[in-house]
Amino acid sequence: MNFHLTEEQLAVKEAAREFAQKELKPGVIERDSSMEYPAEQVRRMAELGFLGMMTSPEYGGGGMDTISYTLAMEEISKVDNSCSVIMSVNNSLVCWGLEQYGNEAQKSKYLTKLAAGEWIGAFCLSEPEAGSDATSQQTTAEDMGDHYLLNGTKNWITNGGTSKVHLVIAQTNPELGHRGIDVFIVETDWPGVVIGKKEDKLGIRSSDTHSIMYNDVKVPKENRIGDPGFGFKFAMKTLAGGRIGIASQALGIAAGAYELAAAYANERQAFGKTIANHQAIAFKLANMALDIEAARLLVYRSAWLKDQQLDYNAASAMAKLYASEVAMKHTVEAVQIHGGYGFVKEYHVERLMRDAKITQIYEGTSEVQRIVISREVINGNLYVPMSPDGMEALR
Ligand code: CAA
Repeated sequence: MNFHLTEEQLAVKEAAREFAQKELKPGVIERDSSMEYPAEQVRRMAELGFLGMMTSPEYGGGGMDTISYTLAMEEISKVDNSCSVIMSVNNSLVCWGLEQYGNEAQKSKYLTKLAAGEWIGAFCLSEPEAGSDATSQQTTAEDMGDHYLLNGTKNWITNGGTSKVHLVIAQTNPELGHRGIDVFIVETDWPGVVIGKKEDKLGIRSSDTHSIMYNDVKVPKENRIGDPGFGFKFAMKTLAGGRIGIASQALGIAAGAYELAAAYANERQAFGKTIANHQAIAFKLANMALDIEAARLLVYRSAWLKDQQLDYNAASAMAKLYASEVAMKHTVEAVQIHGGYGFVKEYHVERLMRDAKITQIYEGTSEVQRIVISREVINGNLYVPMSPDGMEALR
């Protein structure tokens, strides 16, 4: 077992940190307040190669491993989670899904532009009545011979208004349930695609979250990904990797809040010494450091399993579940350490606390992660009985 990062991974982490601290931090409070889309910052992320990090160079990506992606997500999420969710969706749901399951024509037409950040993509699964229960898709795509006719509404779509390409999950054969679901590449300037209003959110406020309506949208047959009926499996497989991205975001939020709280506690004086030297605060910092390190191990391990092409379904659910709970718990603690300063918007911690909440909700709620983990336990995929007395360690 080797816990060292490679020279390349360290260089990616350093580049992401420098970008986040120098280019994202100035203006992040104002963008959060005004809900202004970070257009210039997204353009820079494209230029620096953060929007298609894991995509093969052959399709215009960086060809990096998942660990490098995780490190970049962590550093960017310490500062600006509107930018990091845009990055996460484009990298792990859209580009990764297309590279793994798209055909050559789809990859050369769409993936090359998405991985370069020339176009931004969105992943359209959630619906007003189908969030956690993702098999209950009401959006339909009727087979019309040479094309599909797409109708329905999607909700809370990240990159909804700014994306050029949507990956849309829709029911093609209701009698087959989840086996009658497909996934389509839809261009947002096609007739019948209607972008709803931008959501006014608790956190990640400058990211671009919309409901989307598809009204009789003609989708060419060649824009279906995979064989008929592959759409639900596509969504599940893609989300298993997406959850590593959101886990990294949650880790970054927790670590960012910790860095701010530790720096503040080492400066702020009370009762004749820095508050870090009061046990009440020192123990809070110790608990934060402990939980963040445990989350980090889960997150890096899930990325490592994916890079080794081993099963990471349960590992990514564990990483996302744990890191998001740590992010929520310890951003609250970071606000507490800052006292009155933590409650005002000119300090960064209150924003991180608001941003933390969504990591327990999107790409599968904490409750959904527990469903995924418990099924792996029940199916015997996680602990393997070795003898009547014991279980083999976690795989
Ligand atoms: N890989 C491959 N196949 C999988 C799979 C996986 N990880 N997980 C499930 N499947 C397959 C099953 O094998 C099954 O197929 P068969 O019947 O052919 O064997 C099929 O999918 C249905 O699986 P389940 O019976 O387990 O389905 P379920 O209805 O019980 O639901 C669930 C399972 C885990 C709760 C799932 O619905 C789920 O993940 N829900 C949450 C959805 C979600 O994460 N939404 C996020 C929206 S995207 C987003 O947030 C992006 C953003 O903007 C940031």
